[in-house]
Amino acid sequence: MTTSTSPAALSQDQLKTLVGQAALQYVVPGEIVGVGTGSTVNKFIDALASMKDQIKGAVSSSVASTERLLALGIKVFDANEVDALSVYIDGADEIDGKGNMVKGGGAALTREKIVAALSKQFVCIADESKLVTTLGKFPLPVEVIPMATKRVIAQFVARGGSAKVRLKDGQPLVTDNGQHIVDVTGLQITDPLAFEAEISQWPGVVTVGVFAYQRAQVCLLGTASGVKTLTF
Ligand code: 5RP
Repeated sequence: MTTSTSPAALSQDQLKTLVGQAALQYVVPGEIVGVGTGSTVNKFIDALASMKDQIKGAVSSSVASTERLLALGIKVFDANEVDALSVYIDGADEIDGKGNMVKGGGAALTREKIVAALSKQFVCIADESKLVTTLGKFPLPVEVIPMATKRVIAQFVARGGSAKVRLKDGQPLVTDNGQHIVDVTGLQITDPLAFEAEISQWPGVVTVGVFAYQRAQVCLLGTASGVKTLTF
């Protein structure tokens, strides 16, 4: 189902602000909300500050989001302090017509998947460029234990892809969990559930950035004609 509102044409940054604000309607007063990571989620966090007195706080998916939440006076709970969350709000690098996503462009995929798994509903906030027919155009992030990166890269090459360790300042990027990220290109992920299940079994893979088991139930999509609500 698709519904939409139509403001005047907006910049990408304004669209991120709009979908971040639109996500507030999914936050349940009196509860703890799951919070993702990224530039779109930053807009949501900023908007969430306006209702911080109506919520208990947040479970965060990254050090960066935790710092932003705390700076705005929003209490942050450890994931182990909650049994379940009503809703998780996060962005995506790609989302398909069934709510399957590629995530991890910000290297936070493992904690994002953990918080998503704790949550009854995943609300994805994204701009229209993220909507794809088939996942795989955006380089697929995979969090890998450093000693396994060479073998994992070879396995992706054997599947017909290309893969490399993500660098930051000329060195392998180190995630919040102390691991590395392998970015994979050249794959068409036609069966996201099977793909996620298979890659998750590879020794040394901490988390693959395909979110099919933790897919979105709702996507608030920022478009040139406003915010479209997609439900899956
Ligand atoms: C971080 C993520 C982000 O949700 C994804 O990269 C989208 O980020 P942005 O809103 O900045 O485009 O998965 O690990």
